[in-house]
Amino acid sequence: MVESPARVAAPSPPTASPQENEETVLEVRRLNFYYDGDALALSDINMKILRHRVTALIGPSGCGKSTFLRLFNRMNDLIPGTRVEGQVLFEGVDIYGSDLDPVDLRRRVGMVFQKPNPFPKSIYNNVAYGPRLLGLCDQTALDGLVERSLKQAALWNEVKDILHHSALGLSGGQQQRLCIARALANQPEVLLMDEPTSALDPIATAHIEELVGELRRDYTVVIVTHNMQQAARVSDETAFFYMGKLVEMDKTSLIFTRPRHAQTEHYITGRFG
Ligand SMILES: Nc1ncnc2c1ncn2[C@@H]1O[C@H](COP(=O)(O)OP(=O)(O)OP(=O)(O)O)[C@@H](O)[C@H]1O
Ligand SMILES: [Mg+2]
Repeated sequence: MVESPARVAAPSPPTASPQENEETVLEVRRLNFYYDGDALALSDINMKILRHRVTALIGPSGCGKSTFLRLFNRMNDLIPGTRVEGQVLFEGVDIYGSDLDPVDLRRRVGMVFQKPNPFPKSIYNNVAYGPRLLGLCDQTALDGLVERSLKQAALWNEVKDILHHSALGLSGGQQQRLCIARALANQPEVLLMDEPTSALDPIATAHIEELVGELRRDYTVVIVTHNMQQAARVSDETAFFYMGKLVEMDKTSLIFTRPRHAQTEHYITGRFG
């Protein structure tokens, strides 16, 4: 729990880069985001996301976490009337300012949603779906990729004998790990997770949290969560959003023990939100 957090009277502008010398995968610069032309949902956000780190996005409902997460793979583009100002750099390339193919971007920046959404297909075909779309048809290679992805998602042992059964017969927690395996089969660099455990029971949640800890070895993870304990347990960096602004971002241990802003302290100690 938080003890005697050091507060600052006048907030300094939020700077998001925790360690200058670490490698940045995603960088957001002076970003504004609008729904329906004029409704400002995110305002002047600057942030760096580090490779092989888990970054948690926290903040009260409606503060813009999901909107912000969806910027990284251009999922907001699918909502008519939205507008982006500023830059979102992925590996140094502005994903809004270049002729980058959004479909290729979404392969490299995968996403897992709040509610598990497996396709009404077999377990195997869920995981093989993306690679097949990309043209992988060699059966041995596909088998290997399906097995590796299911192992990385910590689901292989539970499903290896029922690979051709419907994915819809799995439990919610298993379905969510299947969705993670499906994203990993595309061999992404970044995995975006929007409240991936909010529909799951505590045991399934613990499975996913453990998995997130392991995924950081090979991937960069950005996770939205309403669960403060979860953010503290799984993430290396935490960003606190409030009303469309990034209030502060720092190492998770610092955010949860010595937040710089009173708003952050109020939120993490449960005084609002
Ligand atoms: N499709 C949309 N069209 C118009 N406004 C939207 C849309 N989606 C979100 N918004 C608005 O943008 C703001 C941020 O919403 P967002 O869903 O990103 O918040 P959030 O922090 O993820 O909230 P929650 O914790 O409840 O999921 C809210 O004011 C919301 O009403
Ligand atoms: Mg949300």
